[in-house]
Amino acid sequence: TSAEKTALVARRIGLVPDFPKPGVLFRDVCPLLKDPEAFNAVIELLEEKLQKHVGSVDLIAGLEARGFLLGPSLAARLGVGFIPLRKKGKLPGETIAVSYTLEYGQDVVEAQMGALKPGQNVVIVDDLIATGGTMAAAVQLIQKLGGTVLQCLVVIELVELRGRELLEADMLQSLLQY
Ligand code: PRP
Ligand code: ADE
Repeated sequence: TSAEKTALVARRIGLVPDFPKPGVLFRDVCPLLKDPEAFNAVIELLEEKLQKHVGSVDLIAGLEARGFLLGPSLAARLGVGFIPLRKKGKLPGETIAVSYTLEYGQDVVEAQMGALKPGQNVVIVDDLIATGGTMAAAVQLIQKLGGTVLQCLVVIELVELRGRELLEADMLQSLLQY
């Protein structure tokens, strides 16, 4: 069942105090990736969260680096393409950039010009939402390219940091809330 899959996924999220900076409780998805049953479960659960958009998703966009670990598997399951949203200076050709503030720093996220056709429907995937800065920047990027963001999808939502408030109402779906 979905509840059993969710419980398995929750058991495979590591907890590392004071990483990468003192005071941050880091939620580590590496154990989840290492266990094939848990990994299948997480991809199936992410797909379930997209049920109301079934048939209308054109592309999955994944955020560097941990959105890359989930996005392509989800995209393959849905039978759609994947586009990477990367940190500054990593993508070749003409790019478009949006800067944002992190729980522990400042960064820039970029997409390739022409990564999507205007009007295409995109779902953005990442492992985790904290302050929401990364996800909000990703939404802006997709919109600047002329795409429509149907849904933002994460495994873990750190509820106290209220990242969902940086996004449109009901834009965010999460599997686990802490
Ligand atoms: C983490 C995480 C999200 C982001 C969430 O990535 O994977 O992308 O932080 O934080 P926010 O909601 O406060 O913006 P990080 O920036 O550490 O980069 P990495 O995946 O490349 O290590
Ligand atoms: N990104 C931002 N905050 C995080 C946390 N607490 N654990 C893992 N990744 C994060």
